[in-house]
Amino acid sequence: MLTQTHAKARRLADLPPVHSDSLLALIALANADPRPDKIDVGVGVFRDALGNTPILKVMKEAEQRLVDTQKTKAYLGSAGDKRFAELLRPILLGHHASDERIAGLQTPGGTGAIRLGFDLIATANPQARVFVGSPTWPNHPPTIRAVGLEIVDYPYYERGQGIIRFEDMIAALESGEPGDVALLHGCCHNPTGADLSEEQWRKVVRAVADRGMTPFIDIAYQGFGRGLDEDAFGVRLALDTFDEVIVAQSCDKNFSVYRDRVGSLWVKTGAKATTDTAMAHVFQRAREMWSMPPDHGAAAVHIILEDPELRARWLVELTAMRDRINSVRQRIASADPRLAFIGRQFGMFSMLPLSTEQVLRLRADDAIYMADSGRFNVVGLGDDQIDRFIAAVVGALGN
Ligand code: LMR
Repeated sequence: MLTQTHAKARRLADLPPVHSDSLLALIALANADPRPDKIDVGVGVFRDALGNTPILKVMKEAEQRLVDTQKTKAYLGSAGDKRFAELLRPILLGHHASDERIAGLQTPGGTGAIRLGFDLIATANPQARVFVGSPTWPNHPPTIRAVGLEIVDYPYYERGQGIIRFEDMIAALESGEPGDVALLHGCCHNPTGADLSEEQWRKVVRAVADRGMTPFIDIAYQGFGRGLDEDAFGVRLALDTFDEVIVAQSCDKNFSVYRDRVGSLWVKTGAKATTDTAMAHVFQRAREMWSMPPDHGAAAVHIILEDPELRARWLVELTAMRDRINSVRQRIASADPRLAFIGRQFGMFSMLPLSTEQVLRLRADDAIYMADSGRFNVVGLGDDQIDRFIAAVVGALGN
């Protein structure tokens, strides 16, 4: 019997192939290209005028301080660095910062927060359907499916015209039911750069509330769009409106600590006691998945936010990153009327109205690496690459 059972057992060798995340595959492809003038506008990392992704000066100083003063690396627990979360509170929550029904914890990057947040939803209501915009960040759907939740697509963006399909979005959200979840991008929409206006946010929040749905807001680029407060408009409006809100936040971009994985998850329920219970579930799930988040990046962010002088310098560096994003946007937008929409969008990404075939041709002929979807990282371009990029894209768009 035993032999028979073994014969039937599925082995690792039986695993089906996996289509690797195309964004991660793109990094490897671009790195492997030997052409010296290659342009990598694939994955979302900020680059300066010289085409580098420098460590922020203020971060270098905070890290040095951390090395000089840290006395132990003993465990912190599943919540990670609690003071880090406290310091982030006002930056993210604004006038809701003192609301004790909202709790947050440190996570391994924004992705850890997204996974943990959807895990919490699935624990509370395995029947919840998650309404996800089309297109969205390619890692959203697999992360939602990984916790067993069903996805319902809502239309978000019309690529040909570079506009949000707002009426279609609202109509789709109106088919939601109590207990369903609406996944929304807080700012700097990934992959389109097309952000909701304040008026549109109000209508979306109303539609979601009318259906008894819960908003789940992913905010990975706060400060890269219009400003720290402006970019948190949707988060704060949702907190004004709903008893239950989930927010997944990332510091990876606005502190430029990508590989250090610095993020946080925020949970609001209608009462402090129920939030405490929800957070007990969150701690348990975090313990099962990663036990506790990595400390280094969050500890350095903690040092920056705790010190008024370092905090002020971070704001200056953050503003410089935002200004570069917006100036590259304007430069591309003014080059051709068909690219004008890029000047009206926010954050690192926009989507070019190119077919996958055209994208692949740009890769082969011009060594320009962007996602198959036509998403490109506006600020992946060094200053000396912008004109060549524009010329190649305008050529691909044709006459
Ligand atoms: C991106 O979309 O390029 C970034 O969020 C990086 C990632 O993890 O995909």
